[in-house]
Amino acid sequence: MTADFLVIGAGVAGLSFALRAARHGSVLVLMKGSAYESNTAWAQGGIATVLPPSLCFSGDSIESHVADTLDAGAGLCNEAAVRTIISEGAATIEDLIGYGVVFDKQGEQFQLGKEGGHSYRRVLHTRDTTGLEIARALIETARQTPNITLLEHHVAIDLITTAKLGAVADDRVLGAYVLNARSNEVSIFRADRVVLAAGGCGKVYLYTTNPDSATGDGVALAWRAGASVANMEFIQFHPTCFYNPGATGAEARSFLVSEAVRGEGGILVNGKGEDFTLLSDPRGSLAPRDIVARAIDRELKRTGADCVYLDITHKPQGFMRERFPYIYENLLKYGLDCETQAIPVVPAAHYQCGGVVADVAGRTGIAGLYAIGEVACTGLHGANRLASNSLLEGNVMARLAMADILRRFAPSKQAPAPPPIPEWEPGNTAESDELVVIYHNWDEIRRLMWDYVSIVRTDNRLRRAAARLRNLGKEVREFYWGHRVNADILELRNLVTAASLIVDCAVRRQESRGLHFTLDHPATAQRLCHDTVLRKF
Ligand code: SIN
Repeated sequence: MTADFLVIGAGVAGLSFALRAARHGSVLVLMKGSAYESNTAWAQGGIATVLPPSLCFSGDSIESHVADTLDAGAGLCNEAAVRTIISEGAATIEDLIGYGVVFDKQGEQFQLGKEGGHSYRRVLHTRDTTGLEIARALIETARQTPNITLLEHHVAIDLITTAKLGAVADDRVLGAYVLNARSNEVSIFRADRVVLAAGGCGKVYLYTTNPDSATGDGVALAWRAGASVANMEFIQFHPTCFYNPGATGAEARSFLVSEAVRGEGGILVNGKGEDFTLLSDPRGSLAPRDIVARAIDRELKRTGADCVYLDITHKPQGFMRERFPYIYENLLKYGLDCETQAIPVVPAAHYQCGGVVADVAGRTGIAGLYAIGEVACTGLHGANRLASNSLLEGNVMARLAMADILRRFAPSKQAPAPPPIPEWEPGNTAESDELVVIYHNWDEIRRLMWDYVSIVRTDNRLRRAAARLRNLGKEVREFYWGHRVNADILELRNLVTAASLIVDCAVRRQESRGLHFTLDHPATAQRLCHDTVLRKF
């Protein structure tokens, strides 16, 4: 397969890039599963944007959105990146509306939600299924766009670069080896512009709000190809994942209760009905997520309870049904009427703030390789992402990446012919007949990361995690090289790499900042106010 653009991942970043790229050439979009299996499709809250006063009543400003983002980011945001992404917001919302996204309105004005850390109402939404609405519009438009081929059940194995083929002087991307997970065949996909938009790595943790597909593929692919990775210690835990101990199935266990519920007045309380979050921050339940998640963790440890409660029962009857119909209906399915009962909740892994080092246009250190959306570390989020800034980032980066590619890859700037790409070599490997090894290692990684590397960390726990992950990494590599590839092995290989990158970054950060909190270094150290950058070579 050959195309002008190869896009790995089909959330908001990948699809909105593909739609732009299709005006300039052929585009292949790889999806690991079916079209709607992405973090984007699961996003409830919305997309934070400052709109012109003619379109909303909020009194908001770019400066205020920038200030809130910098405040949440705990000193590690790149202010220039923050300004660029926030300033481009309104224009990219127009693009989304052009693709058919319908946001909630009141008359001619957009209805705006509020979430933790925001000083104003500025979250555009479609009830409580904003991500699904964006995914729907982008997928439907992409399906009707002749230059785009959407390939479901196609898993990238490894990126192909000139350096990997021995031409180290001119490192650029040439494409990827890709597994068709249905036929189990591996092919070379050639493209001079490869866009990683593969999302994050929530599945590294036992409890997560992410879909099963979030196995850190993008960061692992880029790392193996030699790109730098930064700030992986900053994994965001969402404070309010529905606590549903009897649940089976990933969706029931990962069910998110949007922060927008707190934006509309929902309050976190303990079993006695006390608002414990006020002890941590005067903003209480609407403080930034790192603060709220830590307050919950502390309260659970203090009381020995299994969960805390999100109480929105003081709102008039019918409010939840109208504003949050998806959450309301789902909770009802699990036997809970949130208009009359408080919702049991616990924190769960939600968002990867670090990732592949990239500028706001997604440019990585490897020519032709772009990383956009959650997979990238641009400096927008710093040590903690402000809620609902990520759909914005994915959408803006897609636009800036396309502009950058058009500038850099003009036809007159053709690169020299690459070395021939060797066919995929399955070697003497056996068909995998020991699935139990994969499942065992997968479970072990997720439990170990939850126990040792989650909301509260210590040097000792991180050391233990690093040692276990070294062994697991070795076992997974042996398994990978000894068996024919399949989607499960590839995900496990990426999962162990993402987990190791998180721990390697966390070990280096000898302070507490944003989402990284360690009992051994509880203070923030001014001299450590810089990114944790990992370089492979
Ligand atoms: C939510 O709806 O609470 C999630 C929004 C986000 O993570 O940005």
